[in-house]
Amino acid sequence: MKIMSVLTLKNVTYKYEGARKTVLKSVDAEFKAGKVYTIVGKSGAGKSTLLSLIAGLGVSSSGEILYNGTDLKRIDRDDYRAKSIGVVFQSFNLLINATAIENIILSLNISGSREKDKKAYAYALLEKVGIDRETAERKILKLSGGEQQRVGIARALSHDPDIVIADEPTGNLDRDTAAEVLKILTSLAHEDGKCVIIVTHSRNVTTVADEILGINDYLQLFRLRRFAFRICPGQMSGSVVVDCTQSAINS
Ligand SMILES: Nc1ncnc2c1ncn2[C@@H]1O[C@H](COP(=O)(O)OP(=O)(O)O)[C@@H](O)[C@H]1O
Ligand SMILES: [Mg+2]
Repeated sequence: MKIMSVLTLKNVTYKYEGARKTVLKSVDAEFKAGKVYTIVGKSGAGKSTLLSLIAGLGVSSSGEILYNGTDLKRIDRDDYRAKSIGVVFQSFNLLINATAIENIILSLNISGSREKDKKAYAYALLEKVGIDRETAERKILKLSGGEQQRVGIARALSHDPDIVIADEPTGNLDRDTAAEVLKILTSLAHEDGKCVIIVTHSRNVTTVADEILGINDYLQLFRLRRFAFRICPGQMSGSVVVDCTQSAINS
């Protein structure tokens, strides 16, 4: 049986309001449950813009983004954001003067969670990402970067979304900590069946992906093969990636 895509992008084009420049042009892509995707491309390529469209924060200028087969333009996007999507940020975006557990409970309250024992549920979420009770009771500003990102992931999971999107989630972390965070994100796909989409320009991040996509200078999305990176060592940015890719795909 063919697995239906959780998200399908069809001919998506995007231009910021009032801007002349097109940011994304005719983007087609399919994202499935249980898989980790990375999207690479140089700074300004449109990666964050693409994530914001997937997150339902922006609406494509033309084309369609289908969630389980239905165009996002035809569903309640507030509802979609509150229930179906979890977002992880590079700079964590947590309330730094509140504790980890308070951050999670706040998020549960905002998303209108019906969980009966929110505190117990929040502890369980934090434990899942490796935050013990003692750490959960500390203010965010007293946590390490790695711990903060774990809390960030727990918050993204608080409403049990189908899709987790992460914009440079390891950008502020050292290599070992980044690897731990990636392990958590990967397990969300491979063990919990979520669709995980990570935007990055870090080569280490792409190694965990089931599929790697790239945005090129023509503002389009390309599917890359893993080995595309092996044959082009050290060249992770923009058109270079795509040039490698195209030769890899054609070979
Ligand atoms: N709010 C905005 N209004 C107008 N242009 C924007 C806005 N946000 C981003 N852009 C432009 O869109 C392009 C893509 O940006 P972005 O998606 O942030 O790229 P990336 O995440 O790949 O670095 C850039 O040229 C950027 O300047
Ligand atoms: Mg960005």
